[in-house]
Formats: sequence, C-alpha cells, structure tokens
Amino acid sequence: MFVKNTWYVAAWSSEVHADRLFSRVLLDTPVLLWRDAQGQVRALEDRCCHRGAPLSRGRLEGDKVRCLYHGLLFAPDGQCIEVPAQDRIPPNARVRGYPVVETKQWVWIWMGDPELANPADIPDTYWLDDPAWRYREGYLHYNVNYLLVTDNLLDFSHLPYVHPNTVGGDESFARLRPTIENVKDGLRISRWHLSSPPAPFVRKVTDWTDPVDRWNIYDFLVPGILLMHSGSAPAGTGAPEGRFEQAVEFRSAQAVTPETANSCHYFFSQAHNFCIDDPKVTDVIHQVLIDAFNEDHAMIHAQQNNLALDPAFEMVPVGLDAALNRFRWMIDKRLEQERAAAAPVSARARPEAATLAS
Ligand code: FES
Ligand SMILES: [Fe+2]
Repeated sequence: MFVKNTWYVAAWSSEVHADRLFSRVLLDTPVLLWRDAQGQVRALEDRCCHRGAPLSRGRLEGDKVRCLYHGLLFAPDGQCIEVPAQDRIPPNARVRGYPVVETKQWVWIWMGDPELANPADIPDTYWLDDPAWRYREGYLHYNVNYLLVTDNLLDFSHLPYVHPNTVGGDESFARLRPTIENVKDGLRISRWHLSSPPAPFVRKVTDWTDPVDRWNIYDFLVPGILLMHSGSAPAGTGAPEGRFEQAVEFRSAQAVTPETANSCHYFFSQAHNFCIDDPKVTDVIHQVLIDAFNEDHAMIHAQQNNLALDPAFEMVPVGLDAALNRFRWMIDKRLEQERAAAAPVSARARPEAATLAS
C-alpha cells in the first residue's frame, strides 16, 4: 500500500542524538534511529526479534543496542550477538536494518529493497545547509492518509480560501491556471500571479503595499517531497524574466511520510535569503508557516472526518485537481510496478499464453 523503493524523510537531523534511542513509525513499521560512535545515523526495525518489544525501550552499549525486556544484544546492523544464558545465537535472531542517509539536515530512509537504494536519487535541498539562507525546522503530525496531505500541496488554489490571513491573499490567485510539467519522479508546478496585492506574510517582512509579481514554482516528487522557489517582487521589476534583485525570495523544503494508512508525518521549512542576520525575520516567517499549516491541518482533518463517515462518497473531479490526479497516478503506477516485481513468476503475465491467444 506504500511505495517502498524510494527515499523517505524519516527525521530532521536534529531529532536524532548520539546518546538517545529515537523511535518513529514509518510505513506501518516501527523504526529505531540513533547515532553510532562515528556520529552516523543508524536505523533498525524497532521490534526485537525475540518477542517484539521495542528496542527503543532498550539501552545503547557503545554502538550496540540491548533490548531491555529479556536482554538480547544487537549489533548496529541488526544481528543479534548475545542471548543471556545461552551460547548459541539462533541463526534468524536479527532485526531488519534500513539504509539511511543524512544529508542537508534531513535523515532519509529506504524501506524497500536495499539493493536498489541509491543515495544519488535523494532530492537536493541545498538551502537547508547553505549559510546564505535562514529557516526554522517544522514538523506536524497528521491523523489522515498521507495522500490527503499531498493532494493539498499539489493544489495551491486553496491558498486564498484556507489561508486568507497568512500565505493566501487575493482570491484571483485561485483563478490562475498553473503550468504543470513532468520532471523525473514528479511534477513541476508553476504559478505567476502578476500585479497582485502582496500576501499577508509578505507584508509582515516588507513595507510593501503596492502590487507585486508573485510566484510559486515547485517540484513535487514521489513519494511526497515538495521543493519550492517562491517569492514576490514589486510589480514590473523583472521577476518573471529572472531578475530578482528587488524581490523577497524563499526556498521551501517539505516532505510527507506515511506513518500508517491513516496517519503521516509532515516535515517543513521555509528559508529566506534576505535579512539573514535578523532572527526575528526568520521567526516571523516560521510562525506564519506554522499558522498556515495549522489551517491546512484543521481543514484536512475535517475533510478526513467527513470521508470516514461515508466510505462510498464519490468526489466530483474539477480542473483544479489536474496535478494531484497526475501525482496519484504516478504513485499508483509505482505501486503496481512494485507489486508486479514482488509477485511470484507463476502469477505474472505469461508471454507464451499471450502468443497462443493471438
Ligand atoms: S523481547 Fe527483546 S529480549 Fe525479549
Ligand atoms: Fe495550505
């Protein structure tokens, strides 16, 4: 039910410590994260192979983890290396380990076939590590299927309705038709709102009252990663032609990671490259983001409550759904590919049967 062979964001780097065992459920699986003696993040299934107790209730012994139910000791790769009161280690006494890569303040995890994990496929969020940009780290937990959150992020026409006092603004924004293009593993969605009133959050960090040219250009990638360049500039100063000298610019990194079928994790940030020596500006931008994302949170949970009341409810599609429909199609295709690859040969299509029938 979840795409497995892809990189998911498991945590902000700052959430994983050297001296503490950190647990988070990802894709219906309890995962234990910690740092080894070299500071490298490690990930194991957080379920002891003995009787299923969480290893996160255990203790670190150097690089090893001891389950504090009956004392089995595990190496960082998940192999059990000690069983109290016996010399022989059962051959299947191990817990699953997962490839993890820590880069640019995010810890990425691969929950699928480890042979296919290629760190080069991790999306580049360079601004999270670049001293020219400032941001605060954000996280929200949702009790909804993660696709309701990705739907929301794939359709910014909701901004003026859900966020009139934060990141939204003039309702003409909702009447724009975004450009939607295919990119590797996702979509690029671009919106230019020319000569429009500055959005409420832009008015908080500038003294602008005259019209601006506003843009939101983002890649939305499988499994649920949003990478955005956005901003506003005084109207007619050349932003649409690539001249951003007078603009306020932002880079946003957001990631939705399923927890269970009915819950997910949402990591977010909005970096700015102006007033970088004024932490109050960073705080204001982050607070607006939190306020806005709490508005989404309230709306999406209310939507989920309604959907749960009537599982037969059928949505009426409209043009605004173009990007989210395309993204859901991409996810379905990936799920289908993984199902086909995992199916036993006898259950797959047999080419010789097709030949006989034709
Ligand atoms: S459940 Fe872990 S040692 Fe028994
Ligand atoms: Fe929103």
